[in-house]
Amino acid sequence: MFKSIAAIGACALAFSCTLANAGQEQAPILIKFSHVVADNTPKGQGAQLFKQLVEARLPGQVEVEVYANSSLYGDADELEALRNDQVQMLAPSLAKFEQYTPQLQVFDLPFLFDDLEAVNRFQKRAKGRQLLRSMETQNIVGLAYWHNGMKQLSASKPLLQPGDAAGLSFRIQPSRVLEAQFDQVGASSRKLPFAEVFEALRSGQVQGAENPWSNLYSKQLHSVQPYITETNHGVLDYMLVSNPRFWFGMPHRIRVELEGIIDEVTYVVNQQAEAANQADRQRIEASGKSRIIVLDSQQRDAWRQAMRPVWQQFETAIGADVVNAAQAANRKRRE
Ligand code: LMR
Repeated sequence: MFKSIAAIGACALAFSCTLANAGQEQAPILIKFSHVVADNTPKGQGAQLFKQLVEARLPGQVEVEVYANSSLYGDADELEALRNDQVQMLAPSLAKFEQYTPQLQVFDLPFLFDDLEAVNRFQKRAKGRQLLRSMETQNIVGLAYWHNGMKQLSASKPLLQPGDAAGLSFRIQPSRVLEAQFDQVGASSRKLPFAEVFEALRSGQVQGAENPWSNLYSKQLHSVQPYITETNHGVLDYMLVSNPRFWFGMPHRIRVELEGIIDEVTYVVNQQAEAANQADRQRIEASGKSRIIVLDSQQRDAWRQAMRPVWQQFETAIGADVVNAAQAANRKRRE
């Protein structure tokens, strides 16, 4: 049914193939877009909007199938599936690329970015853009950054001071930086796929987690976490990625159209992510299922000081240039 990009590319070059196909309709290019979150999240909405725009502007030429909620591939296998062309687009969280490049670990450093606007500035400046191409030798090409939001700490108890986390076990994404972050406050951590987080918290296998409001609400994690401490201690953002053989093998005209659509979708996702997270924060508050703890500046500072040594641990692997550029993005103007 669907013709592979390689076949289309070969046909485009071969005159005999063009003749053989004369009068025949070209099968559409199929893009399978797999992700692990719900549809009512910034990433879920972005994937749907991408599908809508592609099918409106490239009818009969490109079709998009979106698989949400780990329904096709999950955290354990989605990047391998992309590298093997079993899916053509993903948007994993930046914490999930650790085995392909250490540079993206910069996004996991605790308290590095003041807020989502600083993250946005870093992603738009030269160093941030370079990181989109940091995995091409690994068969992964970055197409855009999509925001979700800043992470909050949920747990079986309030976490006013870093010492309050000691002895608890937290679910983390597969990132050594996140592991080190919890080590710093005397807590332990378990790397679990996103699809398993609700059950791990419900059963008490782990007592805490770190998530943006949209992931907490869309997966009802707040219903099994009595306290959410609003730490904003790190960011959970995404890189929209494809497989370079697929992406650059596409007819040029189609790829340019898709890149234009990605720019539009990225603008919408990134404009709306913060508001979507704040709306989910309000829904959680209104549900009465979880108490939101707001830190005062001294408490937040104590958390910052406790986690800060993690930077030194990872700076060499990430690259001091990358860490410095990220820090500089906390200021609106370049020095
Ligand atoms: C997580 O595993 O917590 C997140 O990466 C899930 C997601 O894609 O937002």
